[in-house]
Amino acid sequence: MTEIKATNITWHEGHVGREEREGMLKQKGALIWMTGFSGSGKSTVAYTLEHALVQQGRLAYVLDGDNVRHGLNKNLGFSAEDRTENIRRIGEVGKLFVDAGIITITAFISPYRADRDQVRELFGADDFFEIFCHAPLDVCEERDPKGLYKKARAGEIKGFTGIDDPYEEPTKPELIIPTHELSPQESSIKLIEMLEAKGKL
Ligand code: ADX
Repeated sequence: MTEIKATNITWHEGHVGREEREGMLKQKGALIWMTGFSGSGKSTVAYTLEHALVQQGRLAYVLDGDNVRHGLNKNLGFSAEDRTENIRRIGEVGKLFVDAGIITITAFISPYRADRDQVRELFGADDFFEIFCHAPLDVCEERDPKGLYKKARAGEIKGFTGIDDPYEEPTKPELIIPTHELSPQESSIKLIEMLEAKGKL
């Protein structure tokens, strides 16, 4: 549990609400939460979807694990505790983005079910979409786009997800994408169809 240290603070409502912003943007805010192994295609699908949405004139934004860890979360490593804090912070950032009316796409391994469920709890049922990028581990390892599986197998990286650290598969994701069978474009189309069906676009 996160220790709460912030006291004597007061919530302020602004003069502009989410609906007004969504009216301006002609879309509804949503959080597309991609989860899966490193190399499962989360970021590739996320950036493909972002591009497709922006080409349609939508406001979309990707929060990506490797990128966010260069800045906001540069003080976090890969222990269970640090991964939990990584996901908690991104959930909160996602909540701000969704309130801003943005179609927000996150690409974090987010290996622990409880961490993902905690993020889900921050959102209404219509705003949060858990997307399981489901490529088998051997495919991700074969791809090894950053050469990290090789290092993990050689013992140069300890606690690497899928090798010597756990990944808990989603039990009820809104969508499962077999990223070893679909192209990034095909995956992106599936996500756009899901957003349309939910009245987000
Ligand atoms: S998470 O587990 O906290 O959700 P996150 O998605 O932010 O992870 O970062 C994962 C990325 O960090 C991987 O794609 C990989 O490039 C890099 N990485 C470095 N060390 C590890 C590790 N021990 N386990 C998994 N990924 C790692």
